[in-house]
Amino acid sequence: MRRDNNLKNDLIIRTLLGEQTERTPVWMMRQAGRYLPEYIALRNKYSFFERCQTPELACEITLQPVDIVGVDAAILFSDILVVPQAMGMEVQLIEKQGPLLPEPIKTAADLNRIYSAGAAGNLEYVYDAIRMIKKELDGRVPLIGFAGAPWTLLCYMVQGKGSKTFDEAKGFCYQNPKLAHQLLQMITDVTIEYLKGQIAAGADMLQVFDSWGGLLNKQDFETFSLQYIRQIVAAIKDEVPTIVFAKGAWSSLGEMAATGAHGLGIDWCIEAQQARQFAGDKITLQGNYDPARLLAPVEEIQQTTEAMLRAFGPGRHIANLGHGILPNVPVAHAKAFVDTVKAFRHA
Ligand code: CP3
Repeated sequence: MRRDNNLKNDLIIRTLLGEQTERTPVWMMRQAGRYLPEYIALRNKYSFFERCQTPELACEITLQPVDIVGVDAAILFSDILVVPQAMGMEVQLIEKQGPLLPEPIKTAADLNRIYSAGAAGNLEYVYDAIRMIKKELDGRVPLIGFAGAPWTLLCYMVQGKGSKTFDEAKGFCYQNPKLAHQLLQMITDVTIEYLKGQIAAGADMLQVFDSWGGLLNKQDFETFSLQYIRQIVAAIKDEVPTIVFAKGAWSSLGEMAATGAHGLGIDWCIEAQQARQFAGDKITLQGNYDPARLLAPVEEIQQTTEAMLRAFGPGRHIANLGHGILPNVPVAHAKAFVDTVKAFRHA
């Protein structure tokens, strides 16, 4: 396991490795983003992919929540959709609507338009950003690198846009399982090389986002998602601590723990004790505050955050939201969540 000895705050790394810590570490999924006025100022000047592809901008945005909100980890500013882009697909980000992939994958001929060999080499700008961020952070907090899980990327690559159900993507898998598995394996191969590139550039730990894992039943989650996540975790877990976040896929927490990941993300629809029962006691749990609860009055945020900390108990817990922070959350409320965790001590 590689560890950066220059880290002044390594609470999150120690928690993932099951070591004792003075307090629970905290960060927020999607913490670098739209609720911060400093981010919106940059958004008004540069397009989304300009922000991702310019290391100076990605670096500045990555550091914003560390400076402004005081979280215990930085997460690389980028997006999971840079991988399909690097594989040869066009990806647009439409303001206030979300991702658009105008030529989605529907047939074997479509699959021939994209490639896996060499694709991770198209993401050099991400590795450059990571090197710059590590230098700029100067050991203040660890840097989290990330990628989307193959299943969640397939959802966007086949559906072509966001969806509540991803029914076209699921239909594709059930009608053309052979093609689906070819695509999932291609994404997996690129993702492994990409994450190894992030490690080489200096990422201290990694998270795999399977935002749509919860759309599949347990058997289909194994078939179309987990067997690929397993390959990714196996390839990186001995190099840096690794978290798997498959939103809604709580019935597979035990199987996900068995991949050898160091941490599992959970959302707010499962209780801490239930998640612990499913996942076993040898893995760190991350979560699970309802992001919409950050819209409540500050005093309530403090009370419910403390209740969450008590429910998970000391050790083997990283405080986080159960999904990404919402754009309409006041910065002071995000800060109240973070400050409450940092002030709390288990009896
Ligand atoms: O966490 C961070 O702060 C780091 C940066 C980050 C972004 N996207 C920046 C972003 C991370 C880790 C992601 C992951 C991501 N991207 C996921 C998995 C996590 C999740 O929330 O489920 C998914 C599904 C995507 C795909 C994606 N990118 C969508 C659906 C959208 C539009 C809707 C939305 O959530 O904003 C994006 C755009 C995007 N990615 C923005 C940001 C800051 C917003 C664009 C903007 O306002 O400028």
